[in-house]
Amino acid sequence: SSSLDSRMEQSFIMIKPDGVQRGLVGEIISRFEKKGFYLKGVKLLSVERSFAEKHYADLSARPFFPALVDYIISGPVVAMVWEGKNVVLTGRKIIGATNPSDSAPGTIRGDFAIEMGRNVIHGSDSIESAWKEIALWFPEGIAEWKSNLHPWIYE
Ligand code: PPS
Repeated sequence: SSSLDSRMEQSFIMIKPDGVQRGLVGEIISRFEKKGFYLKGVKLLSVERSFAEKHYADLSARPFFPALVDYIISGPVVAMVWEGKNVVLTGRKIIGATNPSDSAPGTIRGDFAIEMGRNVIHGSDSIESAWKEIALWFPEGIAEWKSNLHPWIYE
């Protein structure tokens, strides 16, 4: 059995406007829940351009940056914090490759997306990005509740 700390790893996961408009919120939450991760924060909100630019600041020099920002501000998103052992890396696996042309069937993007600019969901790419993104999206903090580390999920 591993340390308690590793089981408290958190990732920032966001269902993008296309995922919300297409009614994929329940499906996506369900996949993370069934895996065994705990939902620690969740809210539906629309963000302004300046906020989206901050979230994607590392990509500001990329040619697709303006289109990416337009996409993220095109409608409400579902911002979430998920917790569990290896949730950052495993979350990225559940989500699938960035380009839906490369994402395997069985992953969220592999099952529900065709184009990069409509790839349904975002997940933090490292523990450090997760900290930054959670601080940005949940400045009010998240309600504290101690997940019970389900004995049929954690040894
Ligand atoms: S990187 O830095 O080049 O490796 O970028 P990558 O990890 O592939 O993607 C970073 C985020 O940019 C989004 N992206 C795009 N959006 C729209 N159009 C194009 N062409 C495009 N290319 C990359 C990609 O979905 C990633 O966003 P998130 O929200 O993190 O998935």
